[in-house]
Amino acid sequence: MFAGETEFLKGVVAMNGLPEATRPEVCFAGRSNVGKSSLINALTGRKGLARASNTPGRTQEINYFTVGESHFLVDLPGYGFANAPLAVVEKWQRLLKSYLRGRATLRRAFVLVDARHGIKAVDEEIMALLSSAAVTFQCVLTKTDKLKKGDLDRVLAQVREKLSKHPAAYPELVLTSSEKGDGIETLRAIIAGID
Ligand code: GTP
Ligand code: MG
Repeated sequence: MFAGETEFLKGVVAMNGLPEATRPEVCFAGRSNVGKSSLINALTGRKGLARASNTPGRTQEINYFTVGESHFLVDLPGYGFANAPLAVVEKWQRLLKSYLRGRATLRRAFVLVDARHGIKAVDEEIMALLSSAAVTFQCVLTKTDKLKKGDLDRVLAQVREKLSKHPAAYPELVLTSSEKGDGIETLRAIIAGID
C-alpha cells in the first residue's frame, strides 16, 4: 500500500485549513525531535518527503500526506522544547491540541517516544488529552538503534506501566528504528489494517 504512492498533500496552519475529511487518517505525535518526520519517510520509503532535521521544532505545520487512495498520514509539530519563539510555539501547540481533539476521521494517533528516554510528563499530558477525546492511541518507540538490550527492557517496563493508566492506549507497542528499518513493516501493516 505504501510503495511509490505517497504524496505530500498540504501543510495546515489553522483548523479551517484541514482537508476535507474524506479518508481515515492516522497521525504521528511526539516530543520535538523524537523522529516523527523520519518515521514517515521510512514508512513511505521516500527520504525527503517529510522534512526531518536535528533542530527541535523542524515541523511547524500539520502536514498531510496521501497514501494511495486509502489513507491520510499526518505529520504533526512536536511538543516540548522547540527552537522557535515562544509565541510561535504556543500557536502550534494550540493547533495540535485542537486537531487531536476535534478531527472526526482521526482513527489512531501514534504517540512516538524515544526508546532511550521513555514516557515523559509532556507525553502523559497528550495521552490524557487523547483519552479524554476518546482517540485511540498507540505508542511507538523510536531510535531503538541507539540503545542496548538491557536498557530497552528497563524503558519497556516504564512505558507499559504508564500506558496501563490511559484508557485509550492500545496495548501493543511498536519498536522502531527509522535508521535501520526495524519495525517499519510492522507499522505499515498496522496502518493498512486501520479503516
Ligand atoms: P520535530 O519536527 O522537530 O518535532 O522533530 P521530529 O520528531 O519530526 O524528528 P525528525 O524526524 O526530524 O528527527 C530528529 C532527529 O533524529 C534527526 O536528526 C533524525 O535523523 C534523527 N532520527 C530520527 N529517527 C531516528 C532513528 O531511528 N535512529 C537514529 N539513530 N536517529 C534518528
Ligand atoms: Mg518533524
